[in-house]
Amino acid sequence: MDLNIYLEVATEAALIAGEIIKKYWGNLKNIRAKGEAGDLVTEADQLSETAILNIINKRFPDHLILAEESGHCGNEKSKYLWAIDPLDGTTNYAHGYPEVAVSIGLLIDGSPQVGVVYNPLRNELFKAAKGLGATLNDQSISVSQTTDLAQSLLVTGFAYDRRLTEDNNYGEFCYLTHLTQGVRRSGSAASDLASVACGRLDGYWERGIKPWDMAAGIVLVAEAGGKISAYDQSPLIINSGRILATNGKIHHSLSQALEKTPNLKIIFQ
Ligand code: IPD
Ligand code: CA
Ligand code: CA
Repeated sequence: MDLNIYLEVATEAALIAGEIIKKYWGNLKNIRAKGEAGDLVTEADQLSETAILNIINKRFPDHLILAEESGHCGNEKSKYLWAIDPLDGTTNYAHGYPEVAVSIGLLIDGSPQVGVVYNPLRNELFKAAKGLGATLNDQSISVSQTTDLAQSLLVTGFAYDRRLTEDNNYGEFCYLTHLTQGVRRSGSAASDLASVACGRLDGYWERGIKPWDMAAGIVLVAEAGGKISAYDQSPLIINSGRILATNGKIHHSLSQALEKTPNLKIIFQ
């Protein structure tokens, strides 16, 4: 199957969404809370999503789409599922911190095959399709060479339900901070996966994330030579909310550390 057509449409949609994100950067009039505490939505999230949906619906009216702000639309029986985050890193964006991304992934028969992650504020366009490799601004990229967890730089994130559950990733964050050269928290899961793909970071894990956060980045990491799985190295389930993505070389040791994390049971009242 020629995936280039899907990659081209995803790229076109991401670039147009990126123009909207740039237009509203520093000019937001409407920042609203949705769902759990800290979960925000702005006019840029909404307009970006509408623009992406228009493009994909027009080109592939028979496909199914899952987008963060509007949910499912299209043909429920389709084997093609687009998973779209129109603005990943909304909290960063609302505060003026320039770590944001448009994330557009395509799953075929449940398997992520095409991914575009675009940070319009830094003009970084990551693209990948199964069997075609991964690029950053049209230059081929690959994962890092770090083999030792103690030498690695990692990244993670914290879902919006973190105040409500002991399964909040605080224990893992502390333990991995102790075992490595550091753990970053960028505030954009799609950017985290892109950073692993291009070798800036050696590994990423997170719980509580959604298919639209990870679909595109999974393809980037896999095509850049990295590895993706559940925490215990079993095959990733995209609806499970948990992901482990690394350069491959630290995958086993990071998986073991996650499995062995002391249960700190940190929950603040
Ligand atoms: C969030 C970001 C963040 C991650 C959260 C996500 P949003 O997405 O990807 O890095 O830790 O779990 O919900 O709300 O900015 O699109
Ligand atoms: Ca997101
Ligand atoms: Ca979002």
